[in-house]
Amino acid sequence: MVILEKRDRSRTDLDTMAVIRTRTHLRALDLPREASVHLSEQLDNGAAVATTRSDGRLMLVHQVGKGPRAGSVEQVRRAGAEMAALLNSSGKGTAQLLTPLNDADLVLALAEGAMLGGYQFRKYKTSGNGPSLKSLSLVHKKVDARTVQELNDLTASVYLARDLVNEPVSFLNATQFSAEIRTLARNTSGLKVQVLDKAQIEALGMGGLLAVNKGSVDPPTFNILEYRPKRAVNRSPIVLIGKGVVYDTGGLSLKPTPHSMDHMKCDMAGGAAVIGAIATAAQRALPLHVVALVPATDNRPGGNAFAPGDVVRMYNGMTVEVMNSDAEGRMILADALCYAERYSPELVITMATLTGAAARAIGTQGMVGMGTANDRIMNELVSAGERMHERVAVFPFWEEYDKELSSEIADLKNLGGDSAGMITAGKFLARFTQRPFVHLDIAGPAFLMAADGYRPRGGTGIGVRLLYSFLRDRAHM
Ligand code: BES
Ligand code: MN
Ligand code: ZN
Repeated sequence: MVILEKRDRSRTDLDTMAVIRTRTHLRALDLPREASVHLSEQLDNGAAVATTRSDGRLMLVHQVGKGPRAGSVEQVRRAGAEMAALLNSSGKGTAQLLTPLNDADLVLALAEGAMLGGYQFRKYKTSGNGPSLKSLSLVHKKVDARTVQELNDLTASVYLARDLVNEPVSFLNATQFSAEIRTLARNTSGLKVQVLDKAQIEALGMGGLLAVNKGSVDPPTFNILEYRPKRAVNRSPIVLIGKGVVYDTGGLSLKPTPHSMDHMKCDMAGGAAVIGAIATAAQRALPLHVVALVPATDNRPGGNAFAPGDVVRMYNGMTVEVMNSDAEGRMILADALCYAERYSPELVITMATLTGAAARAIGTQGMVGMGTANDRIMNELVSAGERMHERVAVFPFWEEYDKELSSEIADLKNLGGDSAGMITAGKFLARFTQRPFVHLDIAGPAFLMAADGYRPRGGTGIGVRLLYSFLRDRAHM
């Protein structure tokens, strides 16, 4: 990982990443005239990142665009990623970050983009080297060591979520997923973990999770993480629930090959995101009681696989008529929602790669959100999403959609009508909780076919930064 540290003064011998707002700020960088002119020309030509060599060091400069400030922070992150890529292609191990601006947020955004952009999943590469860039030092009197460490912790959690998504099911089955969660909890003070095994899941009667697991040779797990600080500002916890389908073939309602199954190792991205978020909350000692639940299994068409037409008794006793075994995410999330009731949570959030409909509706540029929580909560999530550029597009949650889930023979069925599939999926989930509820569908942005700015190809780790930022607000930090 690219590690950020704080430095008290800048050095004239280090490769440098800088952010400026006006051309006169170039002068504050103390460069020889030719270097300044060279940079100016590139900025005039509209380059997001201008580069020059001066006295044997590399200077990389981004000029913040005009326009709305929120937009420009994201531009700076993207410029940071571009700079990191340039440093990597020159084999550089380190650089300093500075700005003549008083505004520390901009240089932090530059760092964030460079750190997030400097990721590669290399576990299975037997030759070649990873990114050369290993550390960055930030020079700004307004940035304190705590903020720097927060960015390191959050980036590490995003990297972890990406790694988990990028791991194929040949390594990351439900049991291994739980082993990774245990390791994380062991290394995070204040974070408690409990992993329920198949016998315990059976004893509890989590019929949804067991049904999805029936076609598998590997057992399911149910992962419970809890962070409960002494001086929490909330009386009852926020429960985050993440979908942990380690691989989704569709089951008997098999997905057509080749393409729709190619990246279904990403189907635990919601689980990875909630794990990353709660770990960061604990590392940063947020005064907030948080629980994360991740039901985990693969979904396969084995000899005993659950079949369309089956009626499943869920953890809370409700019955579900299975119409499509590819609508498996809601089956396992429903059991987790029932389990969450025991905490009487003030808020429950599900995060899941739940529907192709969500991805088709808004693509990879954000996630689909909906729920029964009040406007204030919804607005807090939306603004955390804007801040972190993990945006939430709020969809309607009208009661008319509920009808689509009624079943002739059971309490409800696991499939809605032909349209608004992301909403009927959310509606299904809402039937299993009595608490204020938000559902976030990340099927679009969880996994990218091509890198985009600081988001790599493959697992993006989306949701970690959004949820952490939201929790931080809730903790009044
Ligand atoms: N895991 C998929 C959704 C998905 C699609 C995630 C594309 C990432 C990218 C989910 O389990 C699924 O199969 N959903 C079905 C639901 C349908 C059967 C109601 C879908 O969207 O087709
Ligand atoms: Mn599916
Ligand atoms: Zn799925």
